[in-house]
Amino acid sequence: MIRKCLFPAAGYGTRFLPATKAIPKEMLPVNTKPLIQYGVEEALDAGCDTMAIVTGRGKRAIEDHFDISYELEHQLKSAKKEHLLKDIREIINNCSFTYIRQNEMKGLGHAILTGEKLVGNESFGVILADDLCINDNGKSILAQMIDLYNRFECSIIAIQEVDSKDLSKYGVIDGKEIESGIYEVKSMIEKPEPQDAPSNLAVIGRYILTPDIFRILLDVAPDKKGEIQITDALKIQAQSSRVLAYKFKGIRYDCGSIEGFVKANIDLYKRK
Ligand code: UTP
Repeated sequence: MIRKCLFPAAGYGTRFLPATKAIPKEMLPVNTKPLIQYGVEEALDAGCDTMAIVTGRGKRAIEDHFDISYELEHQLKSAKKEHLLKDIREIINNCSFTYIRQNEMKGLGHAILTGEKLVGNESFGVILADDLCINDNGKSILAQMIDLYNRFECSIIAIQEVDSKDLSKYGVIDGKEIESGIYEVKSMIEKPEPQDAPSNLAVIGRYILTPDIFRILLDVAPDKKGEIQITDALKIQAQSSRVLAYKFKGIRYDCGSIEGFVKANIDLYKRK
C-alpha cells in the first residue's frame, strides 16, 4: 500500500522570475488551479491520504492554500458562491498535509532525503508538481505506477521518449524492456550530452520509491554544482536491488518551463 506522497517544492523557480519572487512556482495557476493542486488531486486519485510537502523559504502560500479560510468561506456563502471552493474543500477533508523545510537548496535528492522524517520507513510516491500530468483513460499516472509497484514491489520511475536535442535536460535510463512499456533499469545518467545518452527515455517527475533509497541518498556524493541527484541514488539502487521504468499512459506538460506552462494553460482551457 502506498499511502504517502512526497512533493519536493523547495526550488527557487528561477525560470519564472519575477513571478516567483514572492509566490512559489507550485502556486502558479494553470487556468484557475495552482500547479500543486493538480498534483495533490492525482495523489488522492491514486489512493494516497497523506501529502508530505518539502517547502523552503517563501513557500507559506502552499500551506495556506491547503487550509480552511473561514473568513473567505463565510463571505462566499453570503454571496451564494461556495461552489468556487468546493474542490479544494474536498481535498482538505480527504487527506492530511505535513510539511518540512529544506534549509539549503542542495538538489532534488537532498529534498527527498529531507522528506524522510515525514515519510518514515515505507514506500512512497513522489510528485514534482511542475510536471503536470493528465490522462484520458481514467487512471492517473501515479495510480498506474502504484499498480505496477503492487506487482513488482520495487522502485518505479516514470519515463517518456524525448527528442535527442532535449535529452540533456533530463535523467536518461539505460534499460531492457521486460514487458511492453516496462523497462528493467540497468543504469542512469543525469543530463547527458545527446551523444552520451544511452537511450531516448527520459525520467519525468513521478516516482515510487522504496525506503532504502534514504540510506543510499546519504552516501551519494554531490555533483559539480553541489547538488545531490536522485538519478545517482536510483542508479545505485538499480544495481543493488531493482528499479523499473514505466512508459506512462497520458500527457505530461513541463510546467517548469515557460513554453510547457503556456501550452498546459491553453490545452486545459480548451478541454473545459
Ligand atoms: P527544478 O530544478 O525543476 O526546479 O527542480 P527549480 O529549481 O524550482 O526551478 P528553476 O530551474 O530554478 O526554474 C525540480 C523539482 O525539485 C524541487 C523543485 O521545487 C521542483 O519541484 N527541488 C529542487 C527542491 O525541492 N529542492 C531543491 O534543492 C531542488
